[in-house]
Amino acid sequence: MPHAPDSSDIRALVAPFMALEGPLLPILHAVQAEYGHIPASALPVIADALNLTAAEVHGVVSFYHDFRTAPAGRHVLRICRAEACQAVGGTALSAHLLARLGVDWHGTTADGSVTVEPVYCLGLCACGPAVMVDDRVIGRVDETRADAMLAEVGA
Ligand code: FES
Repeated sequence: MPHAPDSSDIRALVAPFMALEGPLLPILHAVQAEYGHIPASALPVIADALNLTAAEVHGVVSFYHDFRTAPAGRHVLRICRAEACQAVGGTALSAHLLARLGVDWHGTTADGSVTVEPVYCLGLCACGPAVMVDDRVIGRVDETRADAMLAEVGA
């Protein structure tokens, strides 16, 4: 795991993107790839490099579901909240999983085992409700299957 970034680390990450048109999103993706999330300390450095305010950078980070402002747990569970999955029990499944883990969306369990994120379609619309556990996409998830899946990742 990389050490907590200081401003020179962030400046070094930002530099290769400065020639791009619209460098903010690629920069944020690079920071998240390096540190697993967008550390608050990175915002003023990125803002300064792009001549934006830290609040403007924060606004972009908050707008996109992909960006995380705190480190994730050991596993990331993404639950599809798009229409086709919602129509076949996705809402109840989400409620079950969030209650079972004791977290809200974007939350991480107290033991650090799982972070839960919403996702808007995993390409398994005909086999909903669909979830993704780390890199594995799973369709037709009911509560029994969901509980077994959580047991597998130690949650
Ligand atoms: S709507 Fe859930 S996988 Fe497409």
